[in-house]
Amino acid sequence: EKGGYASFMLKEIAEQPKAVTDTLLGRIDPEGTLHLDEVRITRGELREVDKVVIVACGTAFHAGMIAKYAIEHWTRIPCETELASEFRYRDPILDPHTLVIAISQSGETMDTLMALRHAREQGAKVLAICNTNGSTIPRESDAVLYTHAGPEVAVASTKAFLTQLVACYLVALYLGQVRGTKWGDEIRTVIRQLSEISGSVDRVLATMEPVRELARSLASHDTVLFLGRHVGYPVALEGALKLKELAYMHAEGFAAGELKHGPIALIEDGLPVVVVVPSPAGRSVLHGKIVSNIQEIRARGALTVVIAEEGDEEVVPYADHLIRIPATPTLLQPLVATVPLQVFACELATARGNEVDQPRNLAKSVTVE
Ligand code: F6R
Repeated sequence: EKGGYASFMLKEIAEQPKAVTDTLLGRIDPEGTLHLDEVRITRGELREVDKVVIVACGTAFHAGMIAKYAIEHWTRIPCETELASEFRYRDPILDPHTLVIAISQSGETMDTLMALRHAREQGAKVLAICNTNGSTIPRESDAVLYTHAGPEVAVASTKAFLTQLVACYLVALYLGQVRGTKWGDEIRTVIRQLSEISGSVDRVLATMEPVRELARSLASHDTVLFLGRHVGYPVALEGALKLKELAYMHAEGFAAGELKHGPIALIEDGLPVVVVVPSPAGRSVLHGKIVSNIQEIRARGALTVVIAEEGDEEVVPYADHLIRIPATPTLLQPLVATVPLQVFACELATARGNEVDQPRNLAKSVTVE
């Protein structure tokens, strides 16, 4: 049932282009308009939403962090993303105009379930983004948008994450469409770009051999750091989480802008630092800032592993290892930038002799608080 792959994780990584396509299927019409009629919250209610709160755990939380950038940009509705386990214990401010989005692959995560129950008690509407039909979280929500990743067997989430991102983008774009924000043209363009993105994921998968080789060469290291900015920051956190749970290594993700506020003290000779680079100048003002960060850490001895878009030549002189991803619209870049990090963690774990589908101490679905 692993279909010729050495692990479910490798199989599920490879299934990502299809998972992304399946999650978009039937939701975009040929004119590029979104149809999310399955979301049983009326257009009138969606127009009255004045705050979005996203709750989730682990990898799903990282999808939620990325969703915040997309929702605020395309809808101009304030959005916060919070760990489900923190949310309900701090007496959050919610009312009937708050839309709470609960993201969960399994639909059974107790922390997320408790957060959504708390939100509904306060009168907020809850939309679940979930991969498991008929599970508890969608059953207890006002509405659900299913991801169509298919069953995810490996404990570490991969294809579910990419489809959670797709679902988050769909919700953000749909809110923008329904509310008619000034970004109307951009929204139509992005819907089209989203419908073509699985080809880019495919291309990334086809170029992963150097990433595997690099991972094997780092198997005896103790620590790997990850840096990113904007939507690349949650990608860095996700890369670090994958490495912790699979390779049992010390891995940490930072917002690159925070480097000088502390983490740069960690940089020493030979320390591998993976940097997720935003789209090149012209499209993202952050690009130049990240290039400076790469120079700074390299000057202090870091072994730089740079994930950058094709055509980005500025990073080349400072990259000890360069991982290319296709040029992608800024907000959608996590769909392609995460894939090499999954492959990296999977290969490093294997090189260290770990069982990738069943990492120690972890369970696929966490049904206790
Ligand atoms: C990491 C991972 C976990 C889950 C988290 C939430 O690879 O799989 O961090 O993402 O336990 O699980 P769900 O999405 O089922 O609520």
